[in-house]
Amino acid sequence: MLTKETTPSVIVNFLDQYVIGQDEAKKVVAVAVYSHYRKISNALQNDGNIAKSNVLLIGSSGTGKTLLCDTLSRLLDVPFVSADATSLAQTKYVNEEIEAVLQRLVDKADGDIEKAQLGIVFIDEIDKLKASKTETRATSGESVQHALLKIMEGSPVKLQNGQYINTTNILFICGGAFVGLENIMSKTHGFGFISTSGGDNQNILDRLNKRVKPTDLFEFGLIPEFTGRLPIIANFQNLSKDMLVKIMSVPKNSIYRQYIEIFKAEGVELSIGKRVFEQISEIAIEYKTGARSLRGIFEELMTPVLYTVPDNPDIYRVEIASLFEDPQLLRRTVIPAKAGIQKIEDR
Ligand SMILES: Nc1ncnc2c1ncn2[C@@H]1O[C@H](COP(=O)(O)OP(=O)(O)O)[C@@H](O)[C@H]1O
Ligand SMILES: [Mg+2]
Repeated sequence: MLTKETTPSVIVNFLDQYVIGQDEAKKVVAVAVYSHYRKISNALQNDGNIAKSNVLLIGSSGTGKTLLCDTLSRLLDVPFVSADATSLAQTKYVNEEIEAVLQRLVDKADGDIEKAQLGIVFIDEIDKLKASKTETRATSGESVQHALLKIMEGSPVKLQNGQYINTTNILFICGGAFVGLENIMSKTHGFGFISTSGGDNQNILDRLNKRVKPTDLFEFGLIPEFTGRLPIIANFQNLSKDMLVKIMSVPKNSIYRQYIEIFKAEGVELSIGKRVFEQISEIAIEYKTGARSLRGIFEELMTPVLYTVPDNPDIYRVEIASLFEDPQLLRRTVIPAKAGIQKIEDR
């Protein structure tokens, strides 16, 4: 289990290496995870009961909710699984599906039930479970909420092999984009129209206004019991152009670093100007899918270059200055035996 040394700031520092921005959400999640495991170890010592605080991540698609959970799971030495609420809602056999998720958690713990009972389950796209009038799915979102509620509250669940797993100490993190929640919030929040000139005041106001209330989630379509099980809410910001630029180049496993390695393996140095990342970010912002479209646009840019490079061992460096200019392919000058006037071509 998580040790005492893995303090919230240690968790945040680790997340910072892979997840750009989202500072507030990182802190909220780090504190929640830390407190969760402190509570459990205290309760184990005192034989006491604990009230579990599951976490809800709210933010547009492609802002890093799943990435944050994945990264978190790599740091924590606890079993971790993620599941999609939409796929739970597409089956008639919700309980079987939920069992299967818990079975995966046990598998992640190498069959150790005790260990699995301290794991983390991430359920994405929880907002798709909202109660709707026109029900086309096999199971209504609302009944999936009830099924999830049961395991989030803590209950013994029978697995296929007859073993029981108790979900009392499992931490549930739910995520969703909650499109339309802003409209609901703007109706119900009254911190409104103090005209401020200072940016700081505006920031405070923005933060108060951003605080999601359980009643907002209820109006959105989550049942009250369900929202009651998600007392901790972390908001993910929409990614700015600057953040998108960083996502492509800063993290240890960023796409730029990956391509630098790919080219290095071909004996070629890759250099891409900042302007290119800005242009890609501008396009990605228009696509409105957060950071999700970055890779596609980037790969489209690289494909013709990667097509050419392997056949041309004289290319030693590739420079790209703009998305709208051809990449510069720098070649070693091969001086022919009968030296004449040699035209050095860049491409
Ligand atoms: N804040 C971020 N920092 C770094 N990469 C990000 C961030 N947000 C999104 N990405 C990139 O976009 C991809 C999709 O993000 P994801 O976490 O699945 O979004 P969400 O779950 O919020 O819809 C990730 O795999 C990652 O490459
Ligand atoms: Mg996701």
